[in-house]
Amino acid sequence: MKLIIAFSFYFLANSIVAQQCSTGQIAYYSSCLLFIKTPLEFNTANSICTGFSGSLVSIHNAIDNRNVTSYVQHYTNGAFWVGAKTISQDVTNPTNWYWTDGTKFNYQNYQSFQPISQGSTSCMQVLPGTGKWSTAACSGTVLPFICELPSLIAQTCPSHCPSGYTWFAETDFCYKNFVQQSNFNDARSVCQADGGELTSIHSQNENDFLVQLSKTGLIVSDDGWVDQVWIGFIFVNQKWQWTDGTNTTYVNWGDGEPNKMQTEWWAVLNADAHQGSNTEASKWNNVGQIDERAFVCKRAALH
Ligand SMILES: *[C@@H]1O[C@H](CO)[C@@H](O)[C@H](O)[C@H]1NC(C)=O
Ligand SMILES: *[C@@H]1O[C@H](CO)[C@@H](O)[C@H](O)[C@H]1NC(C)=O
Repeated sequence: MKLIIAFSFYFLANSIVAQQCSTGQIAYYSSCLLFIKTPLEFNTANSICTGFSGSLVSIHNAIDNRNVTSYVQHYTNGAFWVGAKTISQDVTNPTNWYWTDGTKFNYQNYQSFQPISQGSTSCMQVLPGTGKWSTAACSGTVLPFICELPSLIAQTCPSHCPSGYTWFAETDFCYKNFVQQSNFNDARSVCQADGGELTSIHSQNENDFLVQLSKTGLIVSDDGWVDQVWIGFIFVNQKWQWTDGTNTTYVNWGDGEPNKMQTEWWAVLNADAHQGSNTEASKWNNVGQIDERAFVCKRAALH
């Protein structure tokens, strides 16, 4: 009897929980779909999804296509990324395409006169209204996107990062953009209290990932404090050093930076260059420490 009760509880719990998705998400196979409205390049969008232990969505038949597009219609009429990519110029051959989640590319729903090669790589966008597919340049095109994420029950499995942090596979570190106004010292204290440091940056890819990460969800204000985010780069003992103790292996100063070296011994990343005339997108700038900005913390991944 106990066994029967245990079993029926098991099946009941499974049937209720297996489909569970967070608010704003919908069930899709054993996963959940999450629409992310921030327009990003294809690879960055996919790394945001992998940071949540998922990937860009894959579509395998007309019903999937309808389910995905009708979900997106709640949010936008504009094109969005799905997880199909090819590194072949022969885009008409389905075997040259793959889904970033590793599933087979076994269904297409192209718009007329598609697919068209975008060069050495092509990625797939879908229009919610028609559900029709077309290619877009993987780099240079920024679109909202859909992540296919583990359902809540699967999310109890260990993940790479603490909640709120995004994992970047290439560095195997976790990052979080704190959208709160802080001077350098306060920002650094917040990172340390959270088990990390203000971020260090060691490659162009890590830099570009951080530019995208620190753009997501930002409120644009007139004083431009979200324009630039604090990074852990400081001028001490006559040299620029990372506060996390890692070596300076890469720098990405903007034109004419660092300047005003009598007083400006702290550094920021220009996450959003649409404000302020002297900000160059994705470059670094040296500044004084008291201005209040958002900041990015970096900490070890959970394994
Ligand atoms: C698509 O939507 C239908 C109707 O809501 C649903 O029954 C089906 O399970 C969905 N398909 C997937 C793969 O989630
Ligand atoms: C950092 O630089 C020092 C001095 O050049 C070197 O000895 C050390 O191995 C480097 N550390 C790493 C992690 O690369």
